[in-house]
Parts: sequence; structure tokens; C-alpha cells
Amino acid sequence: MTASLLDRVPVIPVVVIENLDHAVPIARALVAGGVPVIELTLRTPVALDAIERIAAEVPEILVGAGTIITPGQAKQAADAGAQFLVSPGCTPSLTKAMRDTELPHLPGAATVSEVLTLLEAGYTELKFFPAEASGGANFLKSIHSPIPAARFCPTGGISTANASAYLALPNVGCVGGSWLTPAAAVAEQDWDAIVALAAATAELV
Ligand code: 3PG
Repeated sequence: MTASLLDRVPVIPVVVIENLDHAVPIARALVAGGVPVIELTLRTPVALDAIERIAAEVPEILVGAGTIITPGQAKQAADAGAQFLVSPGCTPSLTKAMRDTELPHLPGAATVSEVLTLLEAGYTELKFFPAEASGGANFLKSIHSPIPAARFCPTGGISTANASAYLALPNVGCVGGSWLTPAAAVAEQDWDAIVALAAATAELV
């Protein structure tokens, strides 16, 4: 199994980049705010180029690829320089493709049976998505006793308002979310706002 992702950082910023020129300033703002990790979602045409650019120009950040939903994207992300991979779900071919890259990666689960399927496949670190819509912190609290081996990075609906409640759970290693890079701040290229949000998050945890 690949190296742990959950214990490296308490918060993984989940970022959607529409404009390639925003990639490096966003990465630098997160680092400046004390959050040296970024998950670039593969939801826009520039996402792979953004990963490549950040990997080349902001070596102090851990850059990963998120929203891996097809096996081919796992290899594309690795080729672009991604240092970790995150998927909102799991299928046998998706987990195989992510495993083949030998990068740390988090497959996603939202039900007990999905969690058990991934444990059977050898995973103990999972993304819990969509966290708030799937039962939130109560769900994770409820499954800790019967399934103590599974640990999670909950994502989806998380913000400064509820991140601490998740992080207090014994089966949560870190949380993920897009709240550190609001679309309005990115559109206005207000990088200081992202520095401030990252700093507030770093302090929160
Ligand atoms: C993800 O891909 O992890 C989610 O889209 C992030 O969810 P959020 O936007 O609710 O933080």
C-alpha cells in the first residue's frame, strides 16, 4: 500500500482552476497561508497543465489531482506531475489504475459496503464523499466502532464551521474542501484573500 496521505496535513484544499494563469498564484497563496498542499480537480480543460505548472514552479507545495473518475486520468495526472491522487468513488479499474501509478491515493466511499470493499482491497485510508450529504460527522462516528480500521478524509460541504467537528473524530485524519479558494476571490485574483483563508484554516486546526 502507498504512503499515508491522511497524516501529512490536516486540510487538503480542493481547487477548481479555470484559468491556467491562476494556478501558480493560488498555490503560492496557500503556501504563504501555511497550507502547503493543493488538490487540483480534473474538472476543467486546464487542470493537467495547472498540475504541471505548479509542480514545476511551486516545489514547496504538495500537488495532487482530484476528481479522478476514469482509469486513464490516473496515469495522465501522474504524468503531469501529480504527487497524490483522489477519487470521489471507487471501481475496480479505477483503484487498479491509481495503484499502478504507485502514488499515494484516496479512493472514495460513502456507504458501509463501499468502505468494506475498499478494506478488502487493502485500503485503510479513504475519502468520504460527499461527506455532509452522506451523513456527515455522525456517519463517521457511527462506523468507527464496527469498522475501526477505516480512516477518512471527509470532503463535500466542509468549511471552517464544521471542520473541527470532523477533525476531532478518531477515524478522521484530515478534511478536504474548496472553501479556501472561493470562486469570487479567484475571479478577482484576490490572492491575499486566499492567504488569509489558508492562515485562518491553519490556525483552526
Ligand atoms: C470534492 O471534490 O472533494 C468536493 O467537490 C469538494 O467539496 P466542497 O466544494 O463542498 O468543499
